[in-house]
Amino acid sequence: MRRKNCCLVWTGVFLFGFAVHLLSAQIASSTRDGVYTVEQAQHGKVLYGKQCSMCHRPDLEGMGQNLPLVGDDFLNNWDDQTLADLYTKTHTSMPASKPGSLTPTETVQLLAYILSVNKFSAGKTDLPIDLSKLKAIHIDKLATKP
Ligand code: HEC
Repeated sequence: MRRKNCCLVWTGVFLFGFAVHLLSAQIASSTRDGVYTVEQAQHGKVLYGKQCSMCHRPDLEGMGQNLPLVGDDFLNNWDDQTLADLYTKTHTSMPASKPGSLTPTETVQLLAYILSVNKFSAGKTDLPIDLSKLKAIHIDKLATKP
């Protein structure tokens, strides 16, 4: 009798865990899922040209300590992190010559531009200006599924 109860409890725990897993898989997304719009990236491109390209170069390849914002080196740095991490880094420390000067709107526009140059495709909804939503978007290494 005791053993049976124990089994039931474990089955319950397992089913609950499975349900939570399914739910979170539905909410979480990745940079591959078309998470920004073309308009945001276009605004971001203009801002980038004015405020970032002198250090990170017009092609985003960077130079010396001005790290690249495109390609394997960049994506390896951010693999397994979320867009909330990249947002916070950019918002609080860039442009390095004037940290903290970007508005939240400008910051997501710049992220959209960086994603577009890294070949992640655009979608129909704006990249949100909401850290809890950005936290659900994982940064993937590859723009397309292997
Ligand atoms: C004065 C030079 C300078 C300017 C201007 C500048 N950056 Fe940077 N940026 C750096 C340096 C140096 C680093 C590396 C040190 C660090 O991470 O703080 C960096 C790092 C970064 C990183 C993190 C890269 C990584 O892989 O860890 C991001 C993202 C970034 N910059 C975005 C921007 C954006 C967007 C702008 C324009 C709004 C900008 N930067 C303007 C110098 C600059």
